[in-house]
Amino acid sequence: MYSSAVKEKKLTFKSTSVDETIRFGKRLAALLSPGDVIALVGELGAGKTTLTKGIVEGLGVLDRRVVKSPTFSLVHKYEGCIPIYHFDAYRLEDGEEMLDIGSDEMIYGNGVAIVEWADKVSGYLPKECLKITLTAVSENERSIEICGYGSRYNKIINDLL
Ligand SMILES: Nc1ncnc2c1ncn2[C@@H]1O[C@H](COP(=O)(O)OP(=O)(O)OP(=O)(O)O)[C@@H](O)[C@H]1O
Ligand SMILES: [Mg+2]
Repeated sequence: MYSSAVKEKKLTFKSTSVDETIRFGKRLAALLSPGDVIALVGELGAGKTTLTKGIVEGLGVLDRRVVKSPTFSLVHKYEGCIPIYHFDAYRLEDGEEMLDIGSDEMIYGNGVAIVEWADKVSGYLPKECLKITLTAVSENERSIEICGYGSRYNKIINDLL
C-alpha cells in the first residue's frame, strides 16, 4: 500500500492538451528502469490511458495506438526497450484477481508496471512506487500530481523538476 511510512515527495504539473500529457509521459519514461511501478489514479476520462501512451512511446514502442485500456483482459504487455505491463483494475472488486493472473511476477519483474485505477488495488502494490493522480480541471486541462514513495521514486521526482 503506497500511503505508508516510506518517505514521500510530491510535484504537480498542469497539462492543457492531450499532446502535452503525452509529452509528459515521454519525459517520465526517460527516467524509468526495470522494476519501476506507476500507480495511476483518477476518474473516468482523467487521462490515465493517455499518459500511459506517452510513457509507452517513450519506452520505445513505435505506435502508441496499440495502447488501450485493458479493461477486459486486465493486463496488456508491450515490448519496448524493456517490457511494459499495463494493468486496469477498474472492474476488480479487490486485488486477488490481479494476483491470480500472476501480477506479482510482472510487478516485481524485469519491466515497468503501470496500473490504472491503482487505488482499487493499492494493498496489492509495492510500498514504494510512483503514484500519479490525474484530475480534470476543465475540458482540456488536467492536473497531474506525482507522488514518489521511497528513495528510488523521490529521485525520479527530483529529476522531473
Ligand atoms: N490535457 C489532457 N490530457 C489528457 N487527456 C485529455 C486532456 N484534455 C482532454 N483530454 C481527453 O480526456 C480523455 C482522457 O481519456 P483517457 O482514456 O486517457 O482517460 P482514462 O483516465 O484512462 O479513463 P478510463 O478510466 O475510462 O480508462 C480523452 O478523451 C482526451 O481526449
Ligand atoms: Mg484508461
